[in-house]
Amino acid sequence: MTVPSALRAHPVLASVAFWFAVVSSVLIGVSSLRYLLGDPSMAGEGMQATVIANGWIFATHAGASAAALIVGGFQFLSGVRQRWPRLHRWTGRFYVLGCVVGAGAALWIAPDAASGRVATFGFSILAAAWLYTTLTAWRLAMQRDFAAHRRWMIRSFALTFGAVTLRLQILAFLPFGLMYNDVAPFLAYSAWIPNLLAVELAFLLAAAGTAHQSRRGAAA
Ligand code: HEM
Repeated sequence: MTVPSALRAHPVLASVAFWFAVVSSVLIGVSSLRYLLGDPSMAGEGMQATVIANGWIFATHAGASAAALIVGGFQFLSGVRQRWPRLHRWTGRFYVLGCVVGAGAALWIAPDAASGRVATFGFSILAAAWLYTTLTAWRLAMQRDFAAHRRWMIRSFALTFGAVTLRLQILAFLPFGLMYNDVAPFLAYSAWIPNLLAVELAFLLAAAGTAHQSRRGAAA
């Protein structure tokens, strides 16, 4: 498994966090495939107007993004990557396609976000960042800069994983009587900014750990 070295010092914690991310992504991804049936009543009450207004584009968003969410986590398994590099490459292309189509459709539907302009703005920035991180990661793989490719794919998946953190946060608001539309202007930011910050913090800790080790190595 690929994890920042700060987490490598805590292998059990790293494993639990990694498999929680993979399993929750697969569960949310598979459940989101229901939108491919094109029946707006499958959406929550606050979401139905957006689903109806966007028709097949909404289904495209849910289907393509769900595909990326379902396969994305498995790409970080180094055993799979080493044993079946062709599988990693083809699944990676599938993931990139899912993100690009999912983000393109998200940019289209964001102006219809039921809870207004603040939510539209947050979802639009997220979609743009999702496109940028994913395409940068893909370009780096083509240039065979695999260390940088891995870092940018971690950023991309942190944004894809926003679909999970958004739904967990909806659950957290329910006991206070707050429904999706009440909190969507907040969720449009809180679903993904903390994910990116956590990833950047992990990168910084990993770099500090490596620098510390090489200083100790030089001193020995
Ligand atoms: C990361 C970039 C993403 C952006 C910018 C984005 C944007 C949006 C927007 C604007 C809506 C409508 C919200 C509203 O009307 O208030 C929506 C809904 C939805 N999105 Fe995404 N989305 C993203 C990622 C994903 C992912 C990875 C999935 C995979 C599961 C996904 C699946 C859905 C589904 C199923 C809905 C309907 C809401 C529900 O039933 O929970 N989206 N998205």
